[in-house]
Amino acid sequence: MSVSEDLQATIADMVDGRRGILAADESSGTIAKRFDTIGVESTEENRRFYRSALLSTEGLGDYVSGVILFEETLGQTDDSGTPLPKVSAAQGIVPGIKVDKGKGPLPGAPGDMITYGLDGLAERLDSYRELGARFAKWREVYPVSPTNPTPLGLTANAEMLARYAAVCQSCGVVPIVEPEVLIDGDHSIERSAQVNEHVWQKVFDALHRHGVQLEFMILKPSMATPGKACAKAPPEQVAEYTMRCLRRAVPAAVPSINFLSGGQGPEEATANLNALNQLWQAPWQLSFSFGRALQEPALAAWAGESANGPAAQKALLQRAHLNHLAMLGEYDESLEGRDD
Ligand code: 13P
Repeated sequence: MSVSEDLQATIADMVDGRRGILAADESSGTIAKRFDTIGVESTEENRRFYRSALLSTEGLGDYVSGVILFEETLGQTDDSGTPLPKVSAAQGIVPGIKVDKGKGPLPGAPGDMITYGLDGLAERLDSYRELGARFAKWREVYPVSPTNPTPLGLTANAEMLARYAAVCQSCGVVPIVEPEVLIDGDHSIERSAQVNEHVWQKVFDALHRHGVQLEFMILKPSMATPGKACAKAPPEQVAEYTMRCLRRAVPAAVPSINFLSGGQGPEEATANLNALNQLWQAPWQLSFSFGRALQEPALAAWAGESANGPAAQKALLQRAHLNHLAMLGEYDESLEGRDD
């Protein structure tokens, strides 16, 4: 297949109007923090066991079309020796890979961050493809303050996302472009919407300049919500602000927008996605690419005990199902906690 046919096939396998993406690509530091919350040590075997359990959840492929893996997971196997990317593909879930190498301060832009990892990216993508990865993810983060993101932060981060996306497409790998506007702080929903809109405009300007084909990428943005230190906004308001900004900044050629959860609770993220899908018809699929909002109940159910693997799988499947319903605009909070 040509590079272009590869990209087309991957988008067709991942975007079908009813499924989303499981983000299971926590870096070594982040997964250690998540395991800490349940008192489990982050050993290679614990990570393998937990992620293997998630990926082999029976029926997950009904609600999830892609999974983002961390590099280590790409090379791990399940208990019977099957590589984990194969376990996922066997369920109709396309395996993908986080390719950025973390972030640090952006010199010249106090308070802003920049992500590392462009050097040698094409070679790394070739080796990830051999292990089964068909899409990639790169995250830039934008802290919000009265002065952040700065004009330099907006430009530099957009440039990184566009350069990464262009390299991915040249290798036949679909890029997930993730500009995460952080929820930390006491900013208003208006400020969050303003920053998100500005970020997306800059990102799409850079994507155009770098010749990225919008038809063969997925956008993974934050929703417009008030900062974590403020009272939560009702889902209808989150949906309205988010949709207004998306319509202003995101071209209709983008096939799918898969939101991150970014610190929203599982039920909150699902309710917000549902409200978005209850608004007027959008030109893009509005879906999920949640990490914490899909995994939190599964992690708690597992608690580091191998006997709890099936309970963790049940919790994951339930969240995935509810988010599938949210994509259809058919979620209701009365469905929470029900066993059917
Ligand atoms: P959260 O949904 O937990 O924010 O994770 C999504 C993700 O992939 C962050 O890069």
